[in-house]
Amino acid sequence: MPRHLDPQSPIGVFDSGLGGLTVVKELFTSLPKENVVYFGDTARVPYGTKSRETIIRYSREIVEVLLKYKVKMVVVACNTASSLALDVLKKECPVPIVGVIDPGAQKAALSTKSKKVGIIATQSTVKSGKYARRLKDFDPKVHVISQPCPLFVPLVEEGWFEHDITRRVAHEYLDALKSQNIDTLILGCTHYPLLKKTISRVMGPKVTLIDSAREVAMEVKTTLQGQNILNPDKKAPRYLYLVSDEPDIFKYRAVRFLGTSIRNVKRCSL
Ligand code: DGL
Repeated sequence: MPRHLDPQSPIGVFDSGLGGLTVVKELFTSLPKENVVYFGDTARVPYGTKSRETIIRYSREIVEVLLKYKVKMVVVACNTASSLALDVLKKECPVPIVGVIDPGAQKAALSTKSKKVGIIATQSTVKSGKYARRLKDFDPKVHVISQPCPLFVPLVEEGWFEHDITRRVAHEYLDALKSQNIDTLILGCTHYPLLKKTISRVMGPKVTLIDSAREVAMEVKTTLQGQNILNPDKKAPRYLYLVSDEPDIFKYRAVRFLGTSIRNVKRCSL
């Protein structure tokens, strides 16, 4: 049964941890009047190495929490959860729900001229094959080459965006991709946009990097407009951050993702 959606209700966003804040940052820019409740599953991160069943279970639990906060829509900011759980969540969720795969795949399909697209993501996202399938739905002529880059996540969490070690790891993962002459590379993980400079140096100026956060924010806006539930309030928006583990580490590291400090971080057990 679809719920009555209140325009003043918050948008719910979730991720396995901090990374989804790259999407929140874009929401702040594109939808500055909207209230946001963010859930970072910091107790159970990473999702990128876990099975489909586990990711679905975790995602369901988080959506339940967000619905208790009366969210008017849900954004699955995590690429791994979007790849493995979104189809299931869409069938169950009583409010509109969007993920990050389609906006990124569509943008890449529109961007590529050589029809050779690379995807870098977590192991579980690559294994799901979701990005590759959606890319082919948007353009059947596209040839897709995927590469998991598991070490990028801890390097970003450490703040080593342009560190020498990060550059070496990037070469290790990306040199083979580069030699395949792709012209477009999807940054298929919440953390990778923070490594744009390093990745771009390795891939060279001819490769377009696709970061779906902007497109996701646009899709959220279109959805809210379509349902007529954009927040009409003139007051400053309220932001609440829920985490399943220690709030202080999240608060400290969030600055790197949002470029601004945050308050209102609360621990929430699942
Ligand atoms: N948020 C995850 C993603 O976008 C990356 C971190 C993790 O493995 O949980 O796939």
